Amino acid sequence: MAYGPDQILEGLGNSDYERYIRTPELLSLQKSPEQWLHRDELLFTVTHQTSELWLKLAVSEAYQIANFLAEDNFRMAMRLVPRILMCIEFADEGMAMLDQMTPWDYQQVRRALGHGSGFDSPGFNAIRKAIPTLGKEFHRLLNKEGVELLTIFLEHEKYADLYELAQALLEIDQSMFMWRQRHFKIVERSIGTKVSGTQGTPVEVLSKLNSFNFFPELWDIRTTITNYAIAQEGEN
Ligand code: HEM
Repeated sequence: MAYGPDQILEGLGNSDYERYIRTPELLSLQKSPEQWLHRDELLFTVTHQTSELWLKLAVSEAYQIANFLAEDNFRMAMRLVPRILMCIEFADEGMAMLDQMTPWDYQQVRRALGHGSGFDSPGFNAIRKAIPTLGKEFHRLLNKEGVELLTIFLEHEKYADLYELAQALLEIDQSMFMWRQRHFKIVERSIGTKVSGTQGTPVEVLSKLNSFNFFPELWDIRTTITNYAIAQEGEN
């Protein structure tokens, strides 16, 4: 194939933009209108595919953060934290598109899904594994400093780096909580809560998962701080 002077990449597509971004492959990953059981299949597919991509990026950033922390490179690790938060936020906000689908139309789309279930989402399962690696590094750094979790909260100016990391982990945890809340409401709006999903899991199981925390110790420490303050007041 002859390339124009400004087209230098190989691959499918009419331009380097198409070849690099791989738009021919990407845009053929959705069913064509003749294949749809319902026209909302495109909305449903695009919402899920974009979510998988944002989560893929979130996972990659999470492991890079963990690697920087393992090298004690705190500044580079913290520089990447907003990326992971944005990825989760975009997956969360993108899901709102599904509010545009009526419950009856979802029932038509659902016929095309086989036993497809969010429990098998590669992006979600990978981020679920990646986030705890950040917690592992956080606790390694606490041990290395020989400092208790409570101390970094009471002396947050002295332990500014560790405090900032604790704060970042809490925000990641909270962003996943927000994702679950949004997802639960979408499920409730689409199919209700007293039924089962495409793999037969009762939706009630999801409401139990809503209260899951990756870093329970970072939430519990708030109670410890409150009780510590109350005990201190008692002493005075
Ligand atoms: C109309 C839209 C949706 C409905 C009705 C729906 C329904 C459900 C249901 C019933 C479950 C429980 C498991 C099962 O039986 O399959 C579930 C789990 C799940 N879904 Fe969805 N879902 C929707 C959209 C999405 C989107 C856009 C994503 C993004 C990738 C997603 C990802 C997940 C994940 C990751 C789980 C497992 C949750 C966890 O482990 O906490 N779902 N969904």
